Amino acid sequence: MRALVTGASVGIGRETARALARDGMDVAVHFRRHESEAAGLAQELSAGGREAFTVRADLSRPDGAATLAGAVRARWDSLDVLVHNAGSYPRAAFASITDAEWEACLRLNLTAPALLTRELLPLLTRSSAGRVIFVSSVLAVAGSRHGAHYAAAKAGLVGLARSLSRELAPGITVNTVAPGSIDTAILAGDTAEMRAERGRAIPLGRIGTAREVADVIAFLASPNAAYVTGATVHVNGGLRPE
Ligand SMILES: NC(=O)c1ccc[n+]([C@@H]2O[C@H](COP(=O)([O-])OP(=O)(O)OC[C@H]3O[C@@H](n4cnc5c(N)ncnc54)[C@H](OP(=O)(O)O)[C@@H]3O)[C@@H](O)[C@H]2O)c1
Repeated sequence: MRALVTGASVGIGRETARALARDGMDVAVHFRRHESEAAGLAQELSAGGREAFTVRADLSRPDGAATLAGAVRARWDSLDVLVHNAGSYPRAAFASITDAEWEACLRLNLTAPALLTRELLPLLTRSSAGRVIFVSSVLAVAGSRHGAHYAAAKAGLVGLARSLSRELAPGITVNTVAPGSIDTAILAGDTAEMRAERGRAIPLGRIGTAREVADVIAFLASPNAAYVTGATVHVNGGLRPE
């Protein structure tokens, strides 16, 4: 079994690549900036007996998805699992968002996953049980006071996933994971007080770990989730149950 995880250099993507490798999959480790982290992870997975390689692509650029798909096609002629995890959350007041910032945010967080799925469909259709998993956000449902473009893109992923779950059935399942507050670089700007405040707002009383999101993604990628498609799974400690 072969998996591509976008944004696998750090954070949730890194733990997802590890979880899929633990489940016996070969993994294409995509990254943009964190080259040594991606290379270290590929080495770790290779040492564990899996095929693993790194691919660099900037998915906020118009040619990013095609570049990444081309590199995967050059290596593999089939793909079983495609995890769209790469993303970033630019904070900005709505009125201050420029056209270019809007385009870049939508490109990375919504358009690139759509184009990448389209580019890799020929490989996914060769799988006996294809899986596409989008990483959205609780903000897709709750909205964001600091990033309307990000929340709009993440909400768009849910509509995209539900559409593809219909169009690509029965060969490929398509699901979405929507994390809440998860302890990665995305929260690095928090003060201790902000962090404590976040924890208090979560019914389970704490911020989640990247591993806790990765384990849900790995479940959706596994044979145990064969009858799950079009679903959005919230991994948020009860912050916003849907
Ligand atoms: N952490 C949270 O609280 C939280 C909550 C809801 C949703 N999410 C979503 O979860 C996903 C993973 O986030 P994370 O928390 O693990 O954040 P992270 O630690 O900052 O990791 C983000 C990943 O995305 C990649 N990436 C960022 N910009 C990119 C670009 N322009 N082109 C290609 N790759 C790019 C990064 O690659 P490099 O580092 O190599 O550049 C990195 O591997 C994102 O989609 C995020 O929106 C996170």
